[in-house]
Amino acid sequence: MTGKRKESEEYLEKQSLLFKQIWKSQKWWQNIIDAIKDYLFVLDNNYRILRTNKAFANLFGKEPADIIMTPYYELYGLEKPHEWCVVQKDGGAISPGSVERKINDSVYLISCFPIFHEQNDAVVYIMKDITETRRLKDQIYHMDKLSSLGTLTSGVAHEINNPLTGIIGYTEMLLMQDQDDTSRKYLKNVYDSAIRCKRIVENMLTFSRQKPPHKSPEDINDIIDKTIELHEYWLKSTNIEIVRDYQKVPYVNVDRQQMQQVILNLIINAEFAISESGQRGLIKFQTEYENKSKTVIVTVTDNGAGIPSEILPKIFDPFFTTKPVNAGTGLGLSIAHGIIAEMGGNIEVKSVVGTGTSFSIVLPNTG
Ligand SMILES: Nc1ncnc2c1ncn2[C@@H]1O[C@H](COP(=O)(O)OP(=O)(O)O)[C@@H](O)[C@H]1O
Ligand SMILES: [Mg+2]
Repeated sequence: MTGKRKESEEYLEKQSLLFKQIWKSQKWWQNIIDAIKDYLFVLDNNYRILRTNKAFANLFGKEPADIIMTPYYELYGLEKPHEWCVVQKDGGAISPGSVERKINDSVYLISCFPIFHEQNDAVVYIMKDITETRRLKDQIYHMDKLSSLGTLTSGVAHEINNPLTGIIGYTEMLLMQDQDDTSRKYLKNVYDSAIRCKRIVENMLTFSRQKPPHKSPEDINDIIDKTIELHEYWLKSTNIEIVRDYQKVPYVNVDRQQMQQVILNLIINAEFAISESGQRGLIKFQTEYENKSKTVIVTVTDNGAGIPSEILPKIFDPFFTTKPVNAGTGLGLSIAHGIIAEMGGNIEVKSVVGTGTSFSIVLPNTG
């Protein structure tokens, strides 16, 4: 009897020790996956979360234990899984792989690794936030494209300039002579078209930036004021209200003329967008200093038509325009982008269709 009791006590002790060991080992594994800062979760065949790490649970303001056995897509407020999310159903095996996807405002590299474990098949998902890497890559790609295009356009622009000067000169000469009405009308058309070409070529040359910029410490508020003044006549004739919201900001090291060109390009674009929206126009100019990054930020906001999200990534591309043939060359923003990049700054855009658009120029404070 005592022998039996002893045996069962020993058995219980062994069990408890075993349990402790299992619990420890479980904890150890949880610690390991919690140490991973990428989002990790393991799904069963019904998309339910079998295991997950802290990083993923925290994404939804929860702890791993709170979301076990929850269908993962419910956490995203969805009724069915994302298109990239596959689990092993009906004996169909899936292979490991990675895809890049945008979820909410972040870009993720999503990798999937199937597990084949007796009858309990599962899939491990790891989501890596690559938003910043993607943005830098896009930026480098864009700068690359701009610099090769710059070399090409400057060559083309110079080649076109000479014959163009001939066309304009000779047409002017013909227009000064006696002409019948029809010929005069045709010649005037030739002349106007040639002048338009000249304007495009000039833009292309600015775009390829043949002239080195002359930088000096400048008061950005004053630059904006002078640019508005320069354009005052048009702004008045279109009844656009100008709002200034300036802070006292440190001097910035820029080429004054180029900076004026950037601001002017933004104003002209805003005017066009306002004319499309059909409401009373408003353009707001804000300047501020951000202490943390030591940058001066200039924001130009309009209440125009806005930019649809599908074309937003293209607006800084050279020759990209949504305007009719005579209204736009598609060079304004790429020139602005080039100029600001050369100053060591950055230009960004935010837009809501039907509400308006806001361009922010971020300049390093080196003045
Ligand atoms: N403030 C704005 N509001 C709405 N759309 C804009 C604005 N600024 C730029 N865009 C869009 O970006 C495109 C490119 O602008 P830009 O490079 O200046 O060339 P362009 O003005 O000659 O078309 C425009 O055609 C327009 O679709
Ligand atoms: Mg423009």
